[in-house]
Amino acid sequence: MGCKIVGHGKALPELIVSNDDMAKIVDTSDEWIVERTGIHNRRIALEETTTSLGTDAARNALADAGLAADDIDLIVCMTISADAVVPSQAALIKMQLGASNAVAFDLNAACTGCIYGMDVASTMIEASVASEDGSGIGHRRNAMRRALVVGAERLSRITDWTDRATCVLFGDGAGAIVLEWDDNAPGILASFLKNTDDEALCLTVDANHDLRPFPFGDGVRMESLGEVMDIRNDDGEFWPQLPYIRMHGQRVFKFATAAIVEAGREVCERAGIKLEDVACVIPHQANDRIIRFAAKKLGVPYERWQVSIGETGNTSASSVLMALHDAYESGRIRPGDFVMCVGFGGGLTSGALVFEA
Ligand code: COA
Repeated sequence: MGCKIVGHGKALPELIVSNDDMAKIVDTSDEWIVERTGIHNRRIALEETTTSLGTDAARNALADAGLAADDIDLIVCMTISADAVVPSQAALIKMQLGASNAVAFDLNAACTGCIYGMDVASTMIEASVASEDGSGIGHRRNAMRRALVVGAERLSRITDWTDRATCVLFGDGAGAIVLEWDDNAPGILASFLKNTDDEALCLTVDANHDLRPFPFGDGVRMESLGEVMDIRNDDGEFWPQLPYIRMHGQRVFKFATAAIVEAGREVCERAGIKLEDVACVIPHQANDRIIRFAAKKLGVPYERWQVSIGETGNTSASSVLMALHDAYESGRIRPGDFVMCVGFGGGLTSGALVFEA
């Protein structure tokens, strides 16, 4: 018994932006981007919103599961580019879906969001089942059997289009799955979550605060993240507030390669399976070089890794669920397969999850 994935879907904006298009706005080239990252194209939302992308992905996942919005008890949305802070992105998607029975909230674990979101949603379902099975474990709580786990991002809103070191990497899109309690299938077998202090703030997006002062006394201070965390640049100055993705690529690369290997090893050990038993790996789609490195280090052949980054770029909290959908669609995941999702990202977060399809 456990939580099983019974439906999956994704949604992409219409507009395809190629590397050659990017070379028209910053000093870059198709050759540089492909060689360093494996990215050819990304989608950018001009008409779409985080809400519309998340809702479309969720609708597709529901249709795939053969379920109606009313069947859903819980909606967790992972995002770092929500359309609003309040209501939550999950609440906006719930409204659009008409999922009248669901409770909804957001989760921010940056690019590892999919792993954290799947773990949180399945834990809530498992705790709900445990509280009702008469074993006396846990307090009484909402009855939950089915959850929509949605990753939705419009990173183009928080991208600095003048910074070639970051703007070529990211894209927009959404992915979703339906998790359902199953009395007979094992579903999710193990998870591993970790936070490593980002002491040098090598991957950040400042909050986009209104800087108008509070009209009494000295006013409310709106510190930059640099001030809050006492981080200064090489000139000894606090980092200025910058509501865009700011990244030290090489430091993140170093963290990512170590984190993905650690999470992959740990989760398989917890699941009681060997790495060679994993039929399909769904990694966070940040850089094909990171995926190739991890494949080699973990000894899981590259051919077993779902690589979708070429056409989407890095879509942060949507990436693993979008790639998971691609893997199902291409027939790479068959019933009974052991599948590993593994990710890393800002926070610094990392994690992995193993399920039996
Ligand atoms: N086009 C052309 N040149 C570029 C460029 C671009 N888009 N971006 C950076 N460069 C230049 C740099 O200015 C630098 O030039 P210099 O040598 O004259 O100073 C050179 O390319 C090398 O830059 P560097 O940052 O060392 O490249 P890299 O090999 O580390 O690749 C990343 C950069 C970002 C692709 C890589 O570091 C990476 O993938 N990091 C991890 C990012 C990640 O996973 N982020 C998401 C986490 S969820």
